[in-house]
Amino acid sequence: MSYIIINKEVAPFVTHIQINRPKELNALNLELMIELKDALLELENDDEVRAVVLSGNDRAFAAGADIKQMAGKSSIDMLITDQFKIWDQIKKFKKPLIAAVSGFALGGGCELAMLCDMIVASETAKFGQPEIKIGVIPGAGGTQRLTKALGKVKAMELILTGEFIDANQALDYGLVNHVVPVELYLSEAIKLASKITAMSPLACQLAKEAVNRSFETNLEEGLHFERKNFYLLFSSQDQKEGMSAFVEKRKPIFKGN
Ligand code: CAA
Repeated sequence: MSYIIINKEVAPFVTHIQINRPKELNALNLELMIELKDALLELENDDEVRAVVLSGNDRAFAAGADIKQMAGKSSIDMLITDQFKIWDQIKKFKKPLIAAVSGFALGGGCELAMLCDMIVASETAKFGQPEIKIGVIPGAGGTQRLTKALGKVKAMELILTGEFIDANQALDYGLVNHVVPVELYLSEAIKLASKITAMSPLACQLAKEAVNRSFETNLEEGLHFERKNFYLLFSSQDQKEGMSAFVEKRKPIFKGN
C-alpha cells in the first residue's frame, strides 16, 4: 500500500502530493515519511516540476507522528531509527513546497506544514502541538518553527497546554498565508503554486534558499548570502530573458537555465 498519491501536472509545472492514510488521520509513520522524502527527491530532479503542493484530505492534513508506532520505543530505539533525519532531507527540497491544510495539522502534522514554504488553509484547519498531552514534546521542529512564526508567548502557551488554534487565529498569528472555504483550499494552493511556476525556477530556488537562510544566520551573513545569490543569477538565461522582456514590454518565458 502506498502512503502518498502523486498527481503530476495538476497545473503546468505543478505536482500535487496527497498524504494517503485516511483511517489514521494521516498519522505520519516512518514508511510514509520515507515515501514522501523519496518522492520529493525524484521531483527535485524533474525539470517539468517547478513547485509542489502537499495536502492531506479534508479531515486531516496529518494528526501527528504515528503514536502507535512510537509508543513502545526506548530512547535508544529512537536514537538508532533517528526518524527525524528524514525531515532534514525534506527541508533541503529546493523547489517551492506549499502545504494545503484542511482539518487537523497536529504535532508532526503541524511541523510538516511549517516545514513547507507556505501554507494555504481551509477554514476548518486546526493547528497545534499536543505532544505535551502524551508526555513528550514536539520533536520535528515545533518548538523552534512555531516560536519563530508566533513569537515566544503564544508558542509557549500552545506547546505547554497542547491546545489547538483555528485557521483564522493561525492567519492572525502569521502562521498561514491564506484561509479559504474548505472546497477551495487545494485549488487555491495550486493557484499560488502556478503564480510561482511562471517565474524563473532558478530565481525561485535561490530566493527560497536566501529566505530560509534568514532563520539560521545573523543579518550580515544573510545579506551577504542574498547578494551572492543575486549576482549568481546574472549568469542565467532567465535573468537575460526577464530583463529583456521588461525592456521590450512583453511577458518573459523562463526556461530554468
Ligand atoms: N498516531 C496514530 N494514530 C492516530 C493519530 C496519531 N497521531 N491520530 C489519530 N490516530 C488514529 C486514532 O487512533 C484512530 O484510530 P482507530 O480508529 O484505530 O482507533 C483514528 O486515527 C481516528 O482518530 P480518533 O478516533 O481519535 O478521531 P477523533 O476525531 O476523535 O480525534 C484527534 C481526532 C483530536 C486528532 C485525535 O485523533 C488525536 O488527538 N490524535 C493525536 C494527536 C497528537 O497527539 N499528535 C501528536 C503526535 S506525537 C508527534 O507528532 C511528535 C512529533 O513531534 C513529530
